[in-house]
Amino acid sequence: MAKLWGGRFDGKNEAWIDAFGASIAYDQALAKYDLQGSKAHVSMLKKTAILPADEADQILAGLTQLEEKLAAGELNFSVENEDIHLNMEVFLHELIGPVAGKLHTARSRNDQVATDMHLYLKDQVTQIIDLLHHLREVLVTKAEENVYTIMPGYTHLQHAQPISFGHHLLAYYQMFTRDAARLTESLKRIDVSPLGAAALAGTTFPIDRFYSAEQLGFTSVYENSLDAVSDRDFILEFLSNASLIMMHLSRFCEEIILWCSHEYQFVELTDTYSTGSSIMPQKKNPDMAELIRGKTGRVYGDLFSLLTILKGLPLAYNKDLQEDKEGMFDTVQTLSHSLAVFTGMVETMHVKVDTMKQSTEKDFSNATELADYLATKGVPFRQAHEIVGKLVLEGIQHGHYLQDIPLETYQTIHPAITADIYEKLDSTNAVKNRHSFGGTGFDQVLGQIERAKETFQ
Ligand code: ARG
Repeated sequence: MAKLWGGRFDGKNEAWIDAFGASIAYDQALAKYDLQGSKAHVSMLKKTAILPADEADQILAGLTQLEEKLAAGELNFSVENEDIHLNMEVFLHELIGPVAGKLHTARSRNDQVATDMHLYLKDQVTQIIDLLHHLREVLVTKAEENVYTIMPGYTHLQHAQPISFGHHLLAYYQMFTRDAARLTESLKRIDVSPLGAAALAGTTFPIDRFYSAEQLGFTSVYENSLDAVSDRDFILEFLSNASLIMMHLSRFCEEIILWCSHEYQFVELTDTYSTGSSIMPQKKNPDMAELIRGKTGRVYGDLFSLLTILKGLPLAYNKDLQEDKEGMFDTVQTLSHSLAVFTGMVETMHVKVDTMKQSTEKDFSNATELADYLATKGVPFRQAHEIVGKLVLEGIQHGHYLQDIPLETYQTIHPAITADIYEKLDSTNAVKNRHSFGGTGFDQVLGQIERAKETFQ
């Protein structure tokens, strides 16, 4: 079949070259948005009397029929027609005849494709924000169940100080809250209409870009036609926000993977989120957590791919821009699925409260408590640190912990030490006593939960 843009060509097409240039295999994901964009455009042509009302109505009816066919899965896209825009125009022509050719008045595929992508991403980002909000709620519920669950807090992956497991979960809640805010903020820049920028320079037809933008639910319109057709910042911003979210998921997954190991045994995942081994009958592997950690790499790849595609592009449209789509689709899918799987995995995860607590009882993570205690008795903190460091070393050499040292021994170290030291050394108390704002003290964790819940109302 002749190309829609075939007028100035007399050479012949090669199917394999056409296939190389085609994007229909993947840009059909934009089909619904392409029809929406076309409807808004033709409504504008009607309103401005660029097209007579009866012709515009015929085109609108044809587009509505195409929407129905699309929903019913009756559209068979062809590589010959290159991309979603040309495929749709050919279908429209088949349905309503030559008047279909008037749809493209005052429009180019350049502003058309940009419009489709803005519509698509606005929809997807809104759904991803919902997924993030659900995850935030699950984390707060889980934190509320675990305010009083004591676990070792780590620095350098070494036991540092005991903390509330709820506090640990809420740290991630805070990250995902910032992620959701970043996505919401980015919507301002996604929710902009490029339609009417035409190929690059605008058009001589008396179009009304504000009208078509309004039809599509966009809150603003690109001010510069060159920018409108060549801007892909909004996709890059999405890919970078997605990379951040995946990085947060991946850090959390890494911890869950460690916690499931024999060495930790802090949590157990349900069977739904685990898999077995084909050779080792005892295995229960945290595959989903590993996969999310792995998929983080592909999302970073999508970000770097688009950054690289754009870095040397002169204004305005260049065919290179067709390469902006697969990474975006891939990231939307990877991120949405990862968020959904992760949320279910955390929601159903069994927390082994006793093991967590026990691992704060046979260690020296209460050393800061002893140093702080001495400091409150007037010993300069640096000196207190030195004294406790020596006690730790002795404990390691003789196989005992700080809470095993008898009071008489403590009193030879400093006469101000009294029997209440043992309470201070208890890991639950070590957590409870951290009342500083934002600390792991139970009152602080409860405060965080309360403030988090207020944001859900
Ligand atoms: N399939 C093309 C893309 O995704 C649509 C725009 C084509 N424009 C053009 N001047 N060749 O970028």
